[in-house]
Amino acid sequence: MFFISFSALLALASACGLPHGFEKKQLTKSAIKNVHVWDGNKFSSNLSTVVFINGRLANAPSSDATMIDGKGGYLLPGFIDSHCHITKCSYLDDMKHYGVTTALDMGTFPVSSVDACKASGTSDVRTSGAAGTVNGTALSHIPGFPADSYIVDPESGRTFVQNRISEGADYIKVFLDPLGPDEATLAAVVQAAHAAGKLVIAHSTIYADYSLAEAAKVDIPCHAPLDKAIDALSLANLTANKQVSVPTLIMMQSIVNNTHAPFQTYTLHAEASVTNMHGAGVPILAGSDANDSPYVPANPPFGSSLHSELQLLVQAGLSPVNAIQSATSLPAEKFRLYDRGSILPGLRADLVLLSADPTLDIRNSLSIQNVWVNGVGLYPPA
Ligand SMILES: *[C@@H]1O[C@H](CO)[C@@H](O)[C@H](O)[C@H]1NC(C)=O
Ligand SMILES: *[C@@H]1O[C@H](CO)[C@@H](O)[C@H](O)[C@H]1NC(C)=O
Ligand SMILES: *[C@@H]1O[C@H](CO)[C@@H](O)[C@H](O)[C@H]1NC(C)=O
Ligand SMILES: *[C@@H]1O[C@H](CO)[C@@H](O)[C@H](O)[C@H]1NC(C)=O
Repeated sequence: MFFISFSALLALASACGLPHGFEKKQLTKSAIKNVHVWDGNKFSSNLSTVVFINGRLANAPSSDATMIDGKGGYLLPGFIDSHCHITKCSYLDDMKHYGVTTALDMGTFPVSSVDACKASGTSDVRTSGAAGTVNGTALSHIPGFPADSYIVDPESGRTFVQNRISEGADYIKVFLDPLGPDEATLAAVVQAAHAAGKLVIAHSTIYADYSLAEAAKVDIPCHAPLDKAIDALSLANLTANKQVSVPTLIMMQSIVNNTHAPFQTYTLHAEASVTNMHGAGVPILAGSDANDSPYVPANPPFGSSLHSELQLLVQAGLSPVNAIQSATSLPAEKFRLYDRGSILPGLRADLVLLSADPTLDIRNSLSIQNVWVNGVGLYPPA
């Protein structure tokens, strides 16, 4: 790489005698010109300019801004990965290189270890902290797994929720497994979380656990069943409850391959579930399940696997436009991250510049020219 990083340039500027704090007090005003801009449903057909000031999108004129030439490219809101495991802060940098500007962690503990990763210039992160589960699941064997995450009855379910909330968790994660928890315990978790204004996200990799998540009114079941496709009975519940799915197809396909199960296990169950849910109008969010854990059967890589997920969602029947929405505006809405997910004045300047149109071929989501997180670019202006 022959690029000098933006922070290296800043360091150089202050070494050259700018008064201390000078760059902080100045308004940092940038403008990306000559780009097709995503409006939530399509790209503008003409070329326009997007301005951001101190990390926020603006509709101010761009005459005194640092000009960045988008060279006829395609400007999208930064991608949101709705399911990943940020066990090391450096994974956020890996994700930024792939245009993933928000990572939604699902189970790393303690919450403070994830919060410590929040730093200017790298991708933003939210976390559930430890997931609730029963003793004996794969998750519970992770060394250091907190004992207060064992949910064995409604009472321990409520205590678990209170402990995560006092720890600062952004939402509540539960790990459903044939071993448990039971419906009454899960319902108590959901009630306690909702009373505190928190969403509940569930690990559900089999049909019965989708049914359990439906019965207990979990907000967001994750993964897709590998034993039986989501059918009309399950769809009726999901739509009536306004539930949202994060199917993590790249994870499900990787599990099938790694365990040498017949490939139809993927197509007839996981992929068909997404086809059916999308057909019935269940909102689908893109999540990779990127992780580095030796305790799970597959480890999708950080950043690149979100693009694999977009391709698998399109194979399952989403249009490329739907797939883009599943990684931008939809997760922002469903996870209540109202400061991102669209290119609108006042929102965070989390942006991805592509050289090729991803609505023509979703694989063009990988034609990344630059990425900005809160207005901080990965590469200096070209
Ligand atoms: C380009 O399109 C946008 C909306 O897509 C519109 O607001 C703007 O006025 C157009 N600019 C020109 C020069 O046509
Ligand atoms: C979990 O189960 C194991 C094996 O049965 C047992 O040794 C351990 O004490 C249990 N942990 C808790 C917190 O109940
Ligand atoms: C649907 O919801 C009902 C009632 O909440 C529940 O009993 C059932 O297990 C759910 N799933 C399916 C597939 O019916
Ligand atoms: C799984 O295997 C199939 C072929 O059997 C291949 O097309 C696919 O790319 C593999 N998926 C992953 C995630 O490795």
